[in-house]
Amino acid sequence: MRVVAAVEFKNVTKVFGKDVKAVNNLNLVIQDKEFMVLVGPSGCGKTTALRMIAGLEEATDGDIVIDTVRVNDVPPKDRDIAMVFQNYALYPHMNVYDNIAFGLRLRELKGFLWQLTHMGEAKNIKSDIDRRVREAAKMLGIEHLLHRRPKELSGGQRQRVALGRAIVRKPKVFLMDEPLSNLDAKLRIQTRAELIRLHRSLGITTIYVTHDQVEAMTMGQRIAIMKDGLLQQCDTPDVVYRYPANLFVAGFIGSPPMNLVPAKISVEGGKAFVDAGAMKFPLAEGHPAAGMNGKSVMLGLRPEDIYDAAMNNPIATTDQNVFEAKVDVIEPLGHQYVIYLGAGEHNLLASIDTGTKIKENMPAKFCVNLDNLHVFDSETEQAIR
Ligand SMILES: Nc1ncnc2c1ncn2[C@@H]1O[C@H](COP(=O)(O)OP(=O)(O)O)[C@@H](O)[C@H]1O
Ligand SMILES: [Mg+2]
Repeated sequence: MRVVAAVEFKNVTKVFGKDVKAVNNLNLVIQDKEFMVLVGPSGCGKTTALRMIAGLEEATDGDIVIDTVRVNDVPPKDRDIAMVFQNYALYPHMNVYDNIAFGLRLRELKGFLWQLTHMGEAKNIKSDIDRRVREAAKMLGIEHLLHRRPKELSGGQRQRVALGRAIVRKPKVFLMDEPLSNLDAKLRIQTRAELIRLHRSLGITTIYVTHDQVEAMTMGQRIAIMKDGLLQQCDTPDVVYRYPANLFVAGFIGSPPMNLVPAKISVEGGKAFVDAGAMKFPLAEGHPAAGMNGKSVMLGLRPEDIYDAAMNNPIATTDQNVFEAKVDVIEPLGHQYVIYLGAGEHNLLASIDTGTKIKENMPAKFCVNLDNLHVFDSETEQAIR
């Protein structure tokens, strides 16, 4: 099977001014028809990366490839991409129909003029535009709004019109830059699902930018995590959650975030432990950290891998996986509690079932799933596994 790289960054760097490295030697392949999410904190270079694909920003170094063609020198209008921004601007004096049709008309007009001058005859293009506008409107559930002006629409409806404008173009690639961040929480979740459905039915390669890791995890087939212009890890949501490549990804992906506790590797009687004082757990047989006696590490423990030892848990409590802590605060989330713990000098978060008998300001015993311990090198910040 031929793998088509719909979009590829090859050693791409973008420097603004003298020394702002917005994107630093990025290598990333986005497959044909893939939904790829670029995620990372504000200022990490997501928008710059996207704008380089669109041709709105020139790469300082490296190649941008779309559909096997190097496009660094191809003007934006010839790249066959459509972009949806956070601050989409609709034409206020045009109704929804005309807003969606506008880009198509511009394009078709150019083609029409070309045909007139070159062949003396042009096909009837009006009906084709009409069909495409109505198709897109139907897909987005805004058929009944086609005659309205933007000011007569809600935020969510306007966002859909902006999407409609991109969809009718049937581009090779969709680029979306935080398109949902102006919507309220409920609408955001709803539109999220609609975008995924839309991607499934259209099958168009999509690169979606967000700073929100939940959005990234729920939408991306793969997600690329960036920090300070540098790609940290790119993989499926499941893999980045279970096997974060470094401390940054570990703390960024997952909510509540992973607990990261300074610890040391200690080998006693041939057995290796990760020792954080109030918590000390054995490392699995053959774990690469087991041969690093005395090494400073960070122990990573997801809140959902900590259990109230007094409850009936999916994992058994043993003398190997238990620790004692003081319960500081219990935060009810409805379906579970987020519990703030003090274990010795360490503060931890635990997600605990609401059936727990734990009370604030009480000491209690907790157990952890030893299969899901994470160990990171304190110096390089890379995962050891
Ligand atoms: N036009 C510009 N001129 C100078 N610096 C810029 C410009 N655009 C972005 N930057 C800088 O590049 C870095 C990455 O910005 P950006 O790609 O917008 O990040 P993100 O979209 O992840 O928030 C930031 O430090 C930002 O200040
Ligand atoms: Mg941005």
